[in-house]
Amino acid sequence: MRVQTGVSFLFALVLACQAKKDYSGYQVLTTGKLSPVQVDALRNLQTSDERFDFWKEAHPDGAADVMSSADHLTALKEFLTKHNIDYSVKIQDVGEAIQISEKPSPTKKSNPNARYNLNWDEYGSHDDFNEFIEEIASQNSWASVRSIGKSVEGRDMKVLELTKGGSGAPNIFIEAGIHAREWIAPAVATYTVKELVENYDSHPEYLDNFNFYVLPCANPDGYEYSRSTDRLWRKNRGLNDGALCKGVDLNRNWEFHWAESGVSDSPCSDVFCGYTPTSEIESQNIKAFYSTLSPVPELTVCFHSAANLWLYPYGYAYDSYPDNVDEIRRLGEDAVDALNAVNGQSFECINSAELYPAAGASDDYYASLGSRFVYTPELRDNGFGFVLPPEYIIPSGEEVWAAWKVMLDKIMPNKE
Ligand code: ARG
Ligand code: ZN
Repeated sequence: MRVQTGVSFLFALVLACQAKKDYSGYQVLTTGKLSPVQVDALRNLQTSDERFDFWKEAHPDGAADVMSSADHLTALKEFLTKHNIDYSVKIQDVGEAIQISEKPSPTKKSNPNARYNLNWDEYGSHDDFNEFIEEIASQNSWASVRSIGKSVEGRDMKVLELTKGGSGAPNIFIEAGIHAREWIAPAVATYTVKELVENYDSHPEYLDNFNFYVLPCANPDGYEYSRSTDRLWRKNRGLNDGALCKGVDLNRNWEFHWAESGVSDSPCSDVFCGYTPTSEIESQNIKAFYSTLSPVPELTVCFHSAANLWLYPYGYAYDSYPDNVDEIRRLGEDAVDALNAVNGQSFECINSAELYPAAGASDDYYASLGSRFVYTPELRDNGFGFVLPPEYIIPSGEEVWAAWKVMLDKIMPNKE
């Protein structure tokens, strides 16, 4: 019996190991500065050729990062050479980079006496996020958890509501993790909650004057799939009728100017926008929840990674901005200055479409509903892209907190 249990355990272990997608031999190439013509060529490649995975989109005067398996590397290099695009190797072996990023952080700083599992020395699970927000809610009379629906695989999507500000106070919505593999996003969103709540005494004015609504993980199935099976999974895990490939890019599924740019209509693409707008249950749940917030959030922040950017709307097309774009840009730039001052990062505040016109993202949708300030931070890269080692969670949380302070101080009621 014992032996049998041991054997089946081993068998399960072997299966589990085999089940994980192997990225050894995959490389990420980074290009030199791109001309507009080169940008167009790369954008076509991104939406038409599923062999290549864009870690950073091509934009004029910027660089693009593209991943390829060993098998297709020659084809990628030929493409780049044909278009006169300089490149160098950014990640020599993605499999190794993933392994490095899975090592626990050497600098254990977070609180070992916490009453929840989540800590910011390593990346948590979706259950850890939910346990953390439930614990915050159970300890504070002004905090509660709202279930906003289930994901396609049945995971509970939960929003933490910090409503000490009371009715009529400005609302703030935080969405993180709509892209599964961008693990630093939920980590920083939950770090923000920890700072707001557990360090309340250092800055009571924030919880006292605002209501915060935090969805730490907008794509729970994708996130768990990226933990268990494919570290670089981006989309949700919905079935696509008539197709073998699963998943919709939830950040191309929103109904504002849906499918107009930066999407693919192929279910196997990483930027598949779905067959219809808001087709996905996760986008439906978030949309329904957001519409209950009254007043419309003054500030909405959607955390992504890993381009060291602070994006502002709109992103669906060039030269399309909300009416108050000047104040949006000014506040974004001030937030980024404060962020960069903390650890010497070099984030930039730019318009989303300048990075890459892409329609159907949630940020555009929130802005279209009248959220006054909407930002999409693309958190740290540190040379690792999506597979950022966990020792960078705390520094990321700290620098983003500096940005929060600038934004919250600016929109604080009675301060303008
Ligand atoms: N990297 C993000 C994405 O591709 C950026 C989204 C920016 N917003 C936009 N509306 N294009 O989803
Ligand atoms: Zn993203």
